Amino acid sequence: MSNGDVKMSNDMIASTATRHRKLSAEEIAEIEHEMTLYPDKKAVGLEALKIVQKYQGWVSDESLLGISKYLGIPASDLEGVATFFNLVYREPVGKNVILFCDSVSCWIMGCEGIKKHIKDTLDINYGETTKDGDFTLIPVPCLGDCDRAPVMMVGPDLHRNLTPGAIDKIILDYSKSKSAE
Ligand code: FES
Repeated sequence: MSNGDVKMSNDMIASTATRHRKLSAEEIAEIEHEMTLYPDKKAVGLEALKIVQKYQGWVSDESLLGISKYLGIPASDLEGVATFFNLVYREPVGKNVILFCDSVSCWIMGCEGIKKHIKDTLDINYGETTKDGDFTLIPVPCLGDCDRAPVMMVGPDLHRNLTPGAIDKIILDYSKSKSAE
């Protein structure tokens, strides 16, 4: 692909990002490490998006352009990867991201009621963040722990056999961890 093609692709998403964000030294070090594991830079794209998200909390247009520039691949390719892989956040998310499983086993075990309890307690719907920025609620397919459904993750932590009471405690615990900082 020519440089002209790359520029055109970047321009497609540049309406909100006028320039790229320079990647940090930590981000670059980790991306460089991934480049030793994959055959070409394009294959590193998803890992680079995850690395930037780890440090920035989400992947802004400016960050996406920064990755595009660093790896020398079109921003539209990265955008495609980010869209396909729905755990790359292209908007700011809360301090704690709740990944809520609403696949079959969890549904059979009553996840609809649990979901309603979370929505009522936090006053958010799927894809939304609480006003205090503490929680974002995102639906995900099966988390692979069906025999202990309903299941959700909060950040890296898996929570099983969910009940309304368990949800209340989980929300309290994660809210407390914020106030203890
Ligand atoms: S269906 Fe929810 S963990 Fe498998």
